[in-house]
Amino acid sequence: MRNVLTLFELTAAEIERIFEITADLKTALKQGVREPLLAGRVMGLLFEKPSLRTRVSFETGMAQLGGASLFLGEDVGWGKREAMSDFARVLSQYVDVLVCRAKSHRTVEELAEHATCPVINGLTDQSHPCQALADLYTMREVHGDLRGRKLAYVGDANNVARSLLLACARLGVQFAIASPPGYDFDEQFVARVKAAEPKADLLQTRDPIEAVRGAAAVYTDVWVSMGQEAQRDVRVQAFSDYQVNQALMQQAAADACFLHCLPARRGEEVTDEVLDGPQSVVVQQAGNRMHVQKGLIVWLLGDEA
Ligand code: CP
Ligand code: NVA
Repeated sequence: MRNVLTLFELTAAEIERIFEITADLKTALKQGVREPLLAGRVMGLLFEKPSLRTRVSFETGMAQLGGASLFLGEDVGWGKREAMSDFARVLSQYVDVLVCRAKSHRTVEELAEHATCPVINGLTDQSHPCQALADLYTMREVHGDLRGRKLAYVGDANNVARSLLLACARLGVQFAIASPPGYDFDEQFVARVKAAEPKADLLQTRDPIEAVRGAAAVYTDVWVSMGQEAQRDVRVQAFSDYQVNQALMQQAAADACFLHCLPARRGEEVTDEVLDGPQSVVVQQAGNRMHVQKGLIVWLLGDEA
């Protein structure tokens, strides 16, 4: 039984296999085929923070595969009404897979420690693995072979950036990040990535132009993540020179695409012109959350994982 709490848990070959399943399922869906590969299987969703993409893409993906999903609200009392160990052991007898979005990464780790079914991280403060899988899958759809190409991330070295770095390291994509002082990756995390993927190609800079130069994809995320609202003024000030706008996009490769995990704060980390412009693939990217997660759960609940 496998969990996907971070991309440390998936090898490059496993990611490739998930992408293969994804591509088959996406092609089939376009042809109107929804094979019930997960008939009778049930997914439980536990969310401590709001969500559009993650929640709905998992629920619809599961329905398309012939399975069912249960969005579990506060009334199930996880972490409050009873010990996590009791909660997880009982719940995982009823469901086949759990998706959890938690404020603290430790919460999904604890859930996974006690659950007897696979646990998928639907975003924590540390990691957003499903997002990064969909992002790299999208880049591959746009560009084909990504080896030797660069993904430039402009902004906060947050949960999304951490998972992206790891996804890029796994798939041989150069990762460049431009962030202001105080908002960098922590050294321990970078060391762990390099230990897992010694050939990881990482450029860390303060200069967005240096990061973006020649990139195949330019990526940004909000300056104020969920749960950081109290730091809003300080963060908006710190990131004021880190907006992705048309002038910055011009530094990227001529065929560069623009990516954003969404939701976006238009006019802050990205301008309307870029988000709605011809290089933006954010809608395709959000759509791929569903396709890739279908690939992930078929793989996770099948015989290969
Ligand atoms: N990108 C993403 O995870 O979106 P939601 O917060 O809407 O799930
Ligand atoms: N970094 C953002 C991503 C939202 C999908 C957050 O954690 O709020």
